[in-house]
Amino acid sequence: MHPASRLDGIDFSLIRQINALATPLSVNLGIGEPNLEPDPELREMAARASRVPWHYTLNAGTIELRREIASSMSGIYDPAREICATAGTEEGLFTAFQSFLDPGDEVLVPNPGFLAYATVASICGASSASYALDPDGWVIDLEDLESKIIRKTKIIVVNSPSNPLGATVGAQTLKRIVELAEEHDCLVLSDEVYGEIYYGQKPASMAGMGANVIVLSGLSKSHGMTGLRLGWIAAPESLTTPMVRMHQYVTTCASIFSQSLAEMILANKSWNRSWLEQMRAQFSIQQEAALFSIERELGVAVPKPPGAFYAFVPVPFCDTAALARELATEAAVLAIPGVAFGTAGEGFLRISYAASVDRIGTGIERIGRYLRTLNR
Ligand SMILES: Cc1ncc(COP(=O)(O)O)c(C=O)c1O
Repeated sequence: MHPASRLDGIDFSLIRQINALATPLSVNLGIGEPNLEPDPELREMAARASRVPWHYTLNAGTIELRREIASSMSGIYDPAREICATAGTEEGLFTAFQSFLDPGDEVLVPNPGFLAYATVASICGASSASYALDPDGWVIDLEDLESKIIRKTKIIVVNSPSNPLGATVGAQTLKRIVELAEEHDCLVLSDEVYGEIYYGQKPASMAGMGANVIVLSGLSKSHGMTGLRLGWIAAPESLTTPMVRMHQYVTTCASIFSQSLAEMILANKSWNRSWLEQMRAQFSIQQEAALFSIERELGVAVPKPPGAFYAFVPVPFCDTAALARELATEAAVLAIPGVAFGTAGEGFLRISYAASVDRIGTGIERIGRYLRTLNR
């Protein structure tokens, strides 16, 4: 039986393919998953969440959770009408695209950028085009972005902090993108799933920046809850209403267990503040270890990324998809080829520092040793 044509050309992502090469001896610096362990209070909240009745909730999620999400977003959104809890940020992306994209529409995505944007657009029958980032700081090239907006452009995707770059986008640039989208009658989808993971200034959010802005976020990365699938969509009511209608047919509602836990996390403000501070402190130490090892072992000084937990490291002298496979099979270390994130990623490896300092050191040393054997 042939799968539907919308799946033509869609395979498991290069990230999944590389991660599938892991063995018990591998050091995994390919993973986009935080190495955060729940503390006793978080475990206690999870135990309490497990005791709520295991029923469906409203499609958009419990009103209690939506109130907490709204409050965590500075009260910009109406919890009753402008927020929808989703099964992870990924479901938010799928629901948003399914709600607004028709065949013939186009989505503008960052290059390099998170690969799901173009793939989900294609599943919706839409095309994608990419806008450029200046490798010097991975700043959005606004001129290029503007030149790429055409009549069929329906959604411009912004991801700050970025996977795979760790780059953030300043408030002025975000505002300009909203203006451009307004001028051309399109939407902006702002993926802020790494919004709480930063080193220095808190990244600007697009929340409330315009009537055409959809914000996605969730707890996967900030709270090490990737498997619990809890995210959300926040947008003005006219955009949220169709998305909730779509979401009911994607997943009915997010898991009530995860919703209850998320509600407790966000309501427990002092615990949450201290969790987020500790999380940032841990990633900051891991970032320092990664950048130090990258410089020593790979001979490149990667500027400190302002957010997320990825270093995008230039390795210009080879085919990086082949290199990542060889690193996995010959050197027992996983890193993701930059080309997995778009054509502009070729010549880079994404090294995740969501790992212990020891593992980071060992993994990068293995990469360095392997690259030196190639140079001989
Ligand atoms: C940029 C970006 N957006 C969305 C997601 C999906 O996150 P979630 O686990 O909340 O679905 C990821 C996961 O890697 C990501 O890197």
